[in-house]
Amino acid sequence: MNDVSHSLLVPFGDEAASISRLFYVMASVGFLIWAVVIGLSVYAIFSGREHPLRRTRTLVIGGGAVLPTVVLTVLLIYALSLMPQLHRAAPDDSLRVRVNGVRWWWRIEYLNEGGEVEFETANELYMPVGRAVAFELESEDVIHSFWIPSVGGKMDMIPGRRNILVLAANRAGVLAGKCTEFCGDAHAQMNFRVVSTDGNNFEAWRRRQSQPATEPSNPQQLAGREAFFRQGCAACHSIRGTEAAGPVGPDLTHFGSRLTIGAAVLDNTPDNLKRWIVDTHDLKPGVEMPEFDSLAGTEELDALVAYLESLK
Ligand code: CUA
Repeated sequence: MNDVSHSLLVPFGDEAASISRLFYVMASVGFLIWAVVIGLSVYAIFSGREHPLRRTRTLVIGGGAVLPTVVLTVLLIYALSLMPQLHRAAPDDSLRVRVNGVRWWWRIEYLNEGGEVEFETANELYMPVGRAVAFELESEDVIHSFWIPSVGGKMDMIPGRRNILVLAANRAGVLAGKCTEFCGDAHAQMNFRVVSTDGNNFEAWRRRQSQPATEPSNPQQLAGREAFFRQGCAACHSIRGTEAAGPVGPDLTHFGSRLTIGAAVLDNTPDNLKRWIVDTHDLKPGVEMPEFDSLAGTEELDALVAYLESLK
């Protein structure tokens, strides 16, 4: 997970760039004022002589009332001037992506131009570089908050409401997304990945995601698909193209193409997936998925993992 950008000070979008500029302006002015105040205190302590009352009064009124009023007003005007850009309306050609916060993961639906769901995925979204994305933010249970620090944001996801956040990435990268509203046990493990990529890559991804799952191509994967149904995974998870249509947990149709497992708790590797299936509650306390510790070390687990990883 090393080359994932988490920082709003390394912007991948204009919104994040203006937020990071605001941070540097605020921090610089704050540091300057701190240095002057500390300098004056040191001078007052060590100068060892009395100062005329009139100069002292001027300093107290000027430095203690007038200057802060002016500085804070200027900073406030600067910060307010950024607001229209940070809360802009969605341009007509925006991509529409509905994101639902669920304890503790993200249901992600890409919508077509008519506003119908084109496909559903989970915990990972793609953004085409240079194109605005209108995120329609909702929640299925409690209040969550949607944040991609490197691109901009953040905005609350409130049950019964739909909040719109418009963001655009301006260069390619793999970025971290986070829930930033305390929402229960696994709040700190409610993360996601954002892949910002050029328009062609994005369209290729989108086409693949809207396809049903690939069929097993060898006996082990086939056995894995049988294990998926035998163990009851299909009660919660959907895999389009199979009979698995569970609406409760993340859609797994193209699970093998994702970078992470469990809402960005682990990198998506076969070994990590085995750990996730048998040790779920240690890896993510509070998660609703039951753990299947009886599968540890079995061929059935190997097959299940081989099948899930084949769902590219
Ligand atoms: Cu969802 Cu914190």
